[in-house]
Amino acid sequence: MTFADAPIAADSFGKLNAGGLRLGLVDTSDRDAFAAWIQADSRGFHEGRVAEKQIDEQLQDVAYRRTTGVWDDSMTDAATPVATVSSWPTPLTLPGETSVSAWAISSVTVAPTHQRRGIARALLEAELRTAHSLGIPLAILTVSEATIYSRFGFAPTTMTADLEIDTRRASWTGPAASGRVQFISLEQLQSVGRGVAERARRGVPGEIELDDYLWGRLIGLLGDAKDEAKNLRAVIYHDAAGAPQGFALYRLASHATDFAAHTATVEHLCTVTDDAYAGLWRYLLELPLVTTVSAPLRSVDEPLIWQVTDSRAVRTTHRRDHLWARILDVTAALEARRYSAPGRIALDVTDRLGFAHGRVLIAVDATGTAQVSPLDGLEHNGEAPADAASLALTVNDLGALYLGGVSARTLVRAGRITELRPGSADAVDATFHSPATPWLSSWF
Ligand SMILES: CC(C)(COP(=O)(O)OP(=O)(O)OC[C@H]1O[C@@H](n2cnc3c(N)ncnc32)[C@H](O)[C@@H]1OP(=O)(O)O)[C@@H](O)C(=O)NCCC(=O)NCCS
Repeated sequence: MTFADAPIAADSFGKLNAGGLRLGLVDTSDRDAFAAWIQADSRGFHEGRVAEKQIDEQLQDVAYRRTTGVWDDSMTDAATPVATVSSWPTPLTLPGETSVSAWAISSVTVAPTHQRRGIARALLEAELRTAHSLGIPLAILTVSEATIYSRFGFAPTTMTADLEIDTRRASWTGPAASGRVQFISLEQLQSVGRGVAERARRGVPGEIELDDYLWGRLIGLLGDAKDEAKNLRAVIYHDAAGAPQGFALYRLASHATDFAAHTATVEHLCTVTDDAYAGLWRYLLELPLVTTVSAPLRSVDEPLIWQVTDSRAVRTTHRRDHLWARILDVTAALEARRYSAPGRIALDVTDRLGFAHGRVLIAVDATGTAQVSPLDGLEHNGEAPADAASLALTVNDLGALYLGGVSARTLVRAGRITELRPGSADAVDATFHSPATPWLSSWF
């Protein structure tokens, strides 16, 4: 048995079955069955019918994922599922450049004809049960709406910013890069850039490993972005020793009346070193005939703001949640990351679905490594040790704090977390703080 064919959670199956619906796995080696699921997924996101060529791509690169559907056998088109979800385990980078296996959930759709009768709930609960039964300590997703997933124990754990830069006001004041920028074809980038992306993601909490499909889609060679790929330009940055250390993908749009006022949209900019970061951003800001550089889905803590003459020329046009996390195994999740300060923290975690419910003691040593033990055990007699910080919180808020990008003090002020001992939030913030700001630079 692999993750892809682990049994369907009986609870969810029973609930949907009682409503005349059939929850099951798609045999992704069966082209017709998988194609019907792909069409349902696309329809669920209000996208067009998927072309045969794109179905071929998904047969090759997405078929390995766990692919679940819900069918209503009473429908005229009974072969097309009325709901979809897909999932797979992926390494998620954590503070301290460690990583954990996370259960990535994608393609959550319910047909408008079948919405609001508990199908998404049954699907999500089944996903969480499956991940838990496979020993995967947390689930992650990126969301269409911020209102759906809290009820399942998820919370935003990385934030993102869309930037718009007026390049007439933003002259470069950052360091001079030592290497050089050169154009590269998307096909060349496909192989050369992959290693760069993989090295970069290991340094940033919140980044995941991109599978072949996500990588191909990111660089415009696969999926629905493909038609627009002809407008994509790719540049790669080599350091002084000739090693690739970053790349950028951008597209240019002309101004209605002024040819000297193009907008460059940075679809993706990925760097391993600060030198590459400086080299690529300077290149983008100094593009001729360009007055606006737009950069969606950036980190909320870009050094760029400190590298231009006028920091107000770099405007954040939109700031929002991006990666959502749901902890399923508190001990495994918390022991996987590194911490910024030693100390002991008692957590009283509430989880309506039960997975993470209970009281634990986190003991962080001088190397930033944690040991987590149940507080209800005999050793602690149910009491938090006198020197421990102590918080009561929901599994959502533990997920929010997990990568160190959200402050416990803020969540206490928001009335979401309760300090069981005064000063506990600050102690947690000192310990959970991540030196690298958490960020996920793509969608999945
Ligand atoms: C969002 C979507 C998956 C919900 O499916 P559904 O089967 O109608 O949802 P359910 O009936 O199982 O509802 C489960 C809960 O979520 C709530 N809910 C459902 N859709 C919601 C929405 N869009 N916003 C806020 N809450 C929502 C329901 O009220 C219900 O709450 P409760 O159980 O706490 O009372 C479906 O409307 C859809 O496919 N939308 C378009 C695609 C999309 O956005 N998918 C999400 C991708 S991240």
